[in-house]
Amino acid sequence: MDLGLSGCGAFVAGASSGLGKACAAALLEAGAHVAICSRTQERVDQAAQDLRSRIPGARVLPLACDVTDEAQIIAALNTAVRQFGGLHILITNSGGPPTGDLGDFDASQWEDALRLNLMSTINLCRHAVPHMKKTAARDGWGRIIMISSLSAKQPIPKLYLSNVSRAGVQGFAKSLSEELGPRAITVNTVLPGYTRTDRLRHLSDALSARSGEAVADIEAGWAKDSALKRIGREEEFAAAVAFLASRPAGFITGVALPIDGGAIKSLL
Ligand SMILES: NC(=O)c1ccc[n+]([C@@H]2O[C@H](COP(=O)([O-])OP(=O)(O)OC[C@H]3O[C@@H](n4cnc5c(N)ncnc54)[C@H](OP(=O)(O)O)[C@@H]3O)[C@@H](O)[C@H]2O)c1
Repeated sequence: MDLGLSGCGAFVAGASSGLGKACAAALLEAGAHVAICSRTQERVDQAAQDLRSRIPGARVLPLACDVTDEAQIIAALNTAVRQFGGLHILITNSGGPPTGDLGDFDASQWEDALRLNLMSTINLCRHAVPHMKKTAARDGWGRIIMISSLSAKQPIPKLYLSNVSRAGVQGFAKSLSEELGPRAITVNTVLPGYTRTDRLRHLSDALSARSGEAVADIEAGWAKDSALKRIGREEEFAAAVAFLASRPAGFITGVALPIDGGAIKSLL
């Protein structure tokens, strides 16, 4: 299927590794021009170099931007729009917050988590949307995809900070999809389940070192409640995101799509 993305402009946040980088790769493979950002220039440069070596002709623009800092978001988006002549696709993403129970976090840790996973999403959209409206007025389409978590639909024990911020992202996405629908800009969220990224590999290695349990058994424990009984792969996640970003996906908006191997148990 032709995704219709050749030559379009995309911005993927939190993309020096993991799910964000995999999404950038999928968009580059489809011919999009992709700005990627993360907190440090060195890490994002390394990611860009790797993407260029894997994807011949890839036009990737690495930008240092901490998505908890509004001024850095504005500057990075302006650079991408200047380079690409418009912005068709925005993918919001960042790292995940720490785990813990109610008593484990003080007010400032709650605020940090909301800044990382909720306000970053809102601020990226607040500052990307004016550019995207102009591009959509010219080219007739735009796509916003917010990387969230299955905790948006099924809160995870001990993950208060994620559970709360992802619920906020969901409310924001649904509201934005209503406002931007008439401009042919779709807004959707994607909810990863356990997916083998660097972050998850570090987590399973650390757990294995601490408990002596084999990494494969730790992963099997994470996978046991899913229908497919396995951990996901980054490229499986990215393929679904690339479809939502594509031109043929123009009638899908306001949706929260789990990409979780059937881990969420609710009917809807
Ligand atoms: N993988 C899973 O199984 C899974 C499951 C459910 C939900 N999720 C969620 O999906 C998201 C991505 O997860 P992942 O596994 O891909 O994590 P990851 O491998 O740790 O990647 C996170 C990316 O975000 C960047 N980042 C972190 N904080 C940032 C900030 N303030 N500003 C800009 N960039 C920032 C990191 O780059 P730098 O360090 O270079 O800044 C990195 O490129 C997280 O919110 C996570 O909670 C993941």
